[in-house]
Amino acid sequence: MLHLHSLRCLALAIAVVSASAAPLYQRPVNADCVQLDGGSTDVVQLYPDQWRLGGDEDVTNSFETQVTTALGFTVTYFPAYKVVNNTIAGEVYVLYQCGADAPPAASFPEGTKFFNIPLTSVSAPETVPYAFLENLGVTDRVHDVSEYVASPCGQALLACPTGSRASPGFDELSNVTALEEGVGGSIDGMLSTSASEYPKSFALSAALDPGALNRAEWIKFVGLFFNLEKEATDVFDAIKAEYDATKAAAATKEADKPVVAWAQYFSFPGLGESYQLSFDPYQTQLTEDAGGAVLDRAALAAVKGVQSTEDSPTLSYSWGEPGAFATQDEAKAAFLEALSQADAIIDETYAFDPTAYTPDTFLSTYNLTAADLAAVPAYAGKQVFREDGLLSFNAETGEYGMDWFEGAIARPGQVLKDLVRAAQPELAAKDQGFTWIRNLFTEQPAVVGASNCAAKSACSAEPATICPFVTMCAAGQAPAILESNADGTCTYAECGQASALQPAQAAQAPAPATNAAAMAGPAIVLTVLIVAFVEVLMHFC
Ligand SMILES: *[C@@H]1O[C@H](CO)[C@@H](O)[C@H](O)[C@H]1NC(C)=O
Ligand SMILES: *[C@@H]1O[C@H](CO)[C@@H](O)[C@H](O)[C@H]1NC(C)=O
Ligand SMILES: *[C@@H]1O[C@H](CO)[C@@H](O)[C@H](O)[C@H]1NC(C)=O
Repeated sequence: MLHLHSLRCLALAIAVVSASAAPLYQRPVNADCVQLDGGSTDVVQLYPDQWRLGGDEDVTNSFETQVTTALGFTVTYFPAYKVVNNTIAGEVYVLYQCGADAPPAASFPEGTKFFNIPLTSVSAPETVPYAFLENLGVTDRVHDVSEYVASPCGQALLACPTGSRASPGFDELSNVTALEEGVGGSIDGMLSTSASEYPKSFALSAALDPGALNRAEWIKFVGLFFNLEKEATDVFDAIKAEYDATKAAAATKEADKPVVAWAQYFSFPGLGESYQLSFDPYQTQLTEDAGGAVLDRAALAAVKGVQSTEDSPTLSYSWGEPGAFATQDEAKAAFLEALSQADAIIDETYAFDPTAYTPDTFLSTYNLTAADLAAVPAYAGKQVFREDGLLSFNAETGEYGMDWFEGAIARPGQVLKDLVRAAQPELAAKDQGFTWIRNLFTEQPAVVGASNCAAKSACSAEPATICPFVTMCAAGQAPAILESNADGTCTYAECGQASALQPAQAAQAPAPATNAAAMAGPAIVLTVLIVAFVEVLMHFC
C-alpha cells in the first residue's frame, strides 16, 4: 500500500512539475534578431551611439555608456546588451539582443530580470502603459490589454474574433503562479506600473512623477525594450514641442490670469460626502502653463471648516463632523464663496454614465440651484468643463472608461491645448475641438469603440520587424542599418565597406561570455528548483 501510494505521489509530483512548466514562448518569424554567422558580438557594438538614448551621458569607457535621466531610470549600454535600472521601482533589467547570448546572470545582482529584446508579445494589464505602447507605435506587439482600456485599438484586441485578449485581472497581478498560468506562455514581457516578483514584469513608473511632461518622457523607458530609443525620443520631442508652443502662445500677464477651479462633489459609502477642490501638482502645472491660475489654496485652507490632510493637496468642505462645517448649508456657502473666484470650473465629479451628465445633473449632484451659482463667473459664462470628453463603453458590464486616466497621461501636449481652450476660450480657434475636456453646456462626450481602431491588424500575431541597428560580417565588421523596409526587410551598408560605426577594439574587449557560461546559471537554478519541488511533494506524501 505504502509503496503504491508513494508511486502515485511521485506520478502526481511529475505531473504537477510538467503542468507548471509553461510552454516556451516562441518568437515570431521576423527579422528582429542579429545573425551572428561569421560575426561575433565580442567585438562590435550592437547599440551604436547614434541610436542610443540621449540624456546626461557619462561615458565611463569605450565599452559602456551610462545615460542617466532625471526621470528615475538609468541605462548603461554595453556592446551586446543594455542594463536598465528603474530607481523608483527598484528593479534592474538586462536587455540583450535576440540572436545574441544573454550575459551571465551571476554578473548581476540577485533579482535582476532578463529580457530578450526587442520584445514581441507584451501584456499590458493596466491602461496607462498601453497608452505608452500605442504612442510608441508597437501595438502590433501587444498580446493582451486591460478590459478597462479606452483606446479603440485596445478595445479591438478585447474583441478579437479568435477570442478576447483581456489581461489578467487586478487580483492576479500579485500572483506569479496565476500570471504564468494565465499569460506566461504567450508573452515575453509585462508592462505594469510597479515592482513585481513576476520575472517578465517591468515597471513604468511614469505616474509617480508629478510633472506632466516628465510623465510622458517615460516613453523613452518603454522604447529601450524595443530598440526604439530614437523613435521614443522623436515622439517625446514632438510632444514637448507641442506643449512648449501651446504654453508660449497662452502666456498671460500676471493681472490677466483666468482662474481655474478643479472641483467635485464627493460621496462614497464610509467616506462621507463633501465638496472638494483639488490642487494636484499636475493640475496646477497644467493650469499655469495654460496661462491660468488655480485658486488661492493657502487662503482657502485657512477658512474655518475647510479641511485638508498632510498627504493630499485636496481641500474638503464636509459637514456634521469635528473640524468640519456644522451644516451642509454652511459648507455649500463656503464652497460657493471659493468658486466665486473661478472663471472656469473643471468638474471632476464621478458619474456612472458620463454621457447622461448634463448641466442639470451638475446642479442636482452638487445640490445647487442656478440662483446659488449666479455669482460664480464660470457658471454665468457657461465655462464649466468635464474630463470625460473621450470614453469607452463596455457593453458587458455597462461601464464607461475614461481616456483622461489613460491616453491623457501619455499626451500632455494635447492636454494643454484642451486646458487653454477652457481657461482662455478667446485664444482657441473657433473650430478647435476638444480631446478630453469638454464644455458641459455645449459639448457631448465622444464614445469610441473597436471600430474606431485605424490599425487593420489589431489581432494579427506577426509583429512588424524592428531591424537590428547593425548586421554582422566576417572580420568583426558591423555595417549600420540604412533602411527599414515596409516589407519587413532591413537594408544595411555593404560588408567590407567603411561604415559610420566604430567597432570596439578587439584587444580591449571584455572576456567573451561563452554560450555555456551564459546558459549554465539559469539552467542550474531551474533544475535545483524542480528537484526541490519534487522532494517537497514526496516528503509531504
Ligand atoms: C540601481 O540604482 C540604485 C539606486 O540608484 C543603485 O543603488 C543600484 O546599485 C543600481 N543597480 C545597478 C545594477 O546599477
Ligand atoms: C494564485 O493563483 C493560483 C493559480 O490560479 C491559485 O491556485 C492560488 O490560490 C493563488 N494564490 C493566491 C494567494 O491567491
Ligand atoms: C440639499 O441641501 C440641503 C441643505 O442645503 C439639504 O437639506 C438637502 O437634504 C440636500 N439634498 C440632498 C439631496 O442632498
